[in-house]
Amino acid sequence: MGENAETILLGDSGVGKTSLLVQFDTGSFQSGNFAATVGIGFTNKVVTVGDTRIKLQIWDTAGQERFRSVTHAYYRDAHALLLLYDVTNKTSFDNIRAWLGEIREYAQSDVVIMLLGNKTDCGNDRVVKKEDGKRLADEYQVPFMETSAKTGVNVELAFLAVARQLKARKSENPDETKFNVQDYVREQSQRSTTCFTTNCQTT
Ligand code: GTP
Repeated sequence: MGENAETILLGDSGVGKTSLLVQFDTGSFQSGNFAATVGIGFTNKVVTVGDTRIKLQIWDTAGQERFRSVTHAYYRDAHALLLLYDVTNKTSFDNIRAWLGEIREYAQSDVVIMLLGNKTDCGNDRVVKKEDGKRLADEYQVPFMETSAKTGVNVELAFLAVARQLKARKSENPDETKFNVQDYVREQSQRSTTCFTTNCQTT
């Protein structure tokens, strides 16, 4: 059994979308800067959920405003959206409401959404509390977790949770359709390791 699922990474420029995808794809973090993503590109990853192989086609979008009209065109075909903010950047968090508005406008109404607060390794520089992320997610009824593309905390889980939810939706097995992504995330997520010595300059 196999399925395809298109997944898009969204969020302001610099929140770590490319880094999250590279960490998931290769298990590594490249320090220093990637060039800001221009337009859009994708990576295929296969995840296994039970006896199903799900091919995630993961689209990495440019966060910069000037590319928005390019990326809007891709929302409609998306099965899942990972929406990121940076816990060290309040503006990126405040902009989540606007991102959710765009999603409502351009994506399918049943798209799977996951809110991610990234860069949790940046202990000293954190300005958005985990509770704030949780509250916003609850308000919009979307699952939420914190990640670090640098240390890898919860990165695989974020993609796996999305894959599981997509599978649960399609399933005719009543046990599986009861799948609750937020409960799954709560059970599986690692407590983020806060490293106060980490150098978190992300110019
Ligand atoms: P655009 O392509 O412009 O939309 O940006 P992006 O969201 O893809 O961000 P990118 O992955 O390029 O990361 C921006 C900067 O943040 C880079 O310097 C990364 O090294 C850094 N970064 C990304 N994720 C993390 C993280 O989890 N922890 C730390 N400390 N730095 C991170």
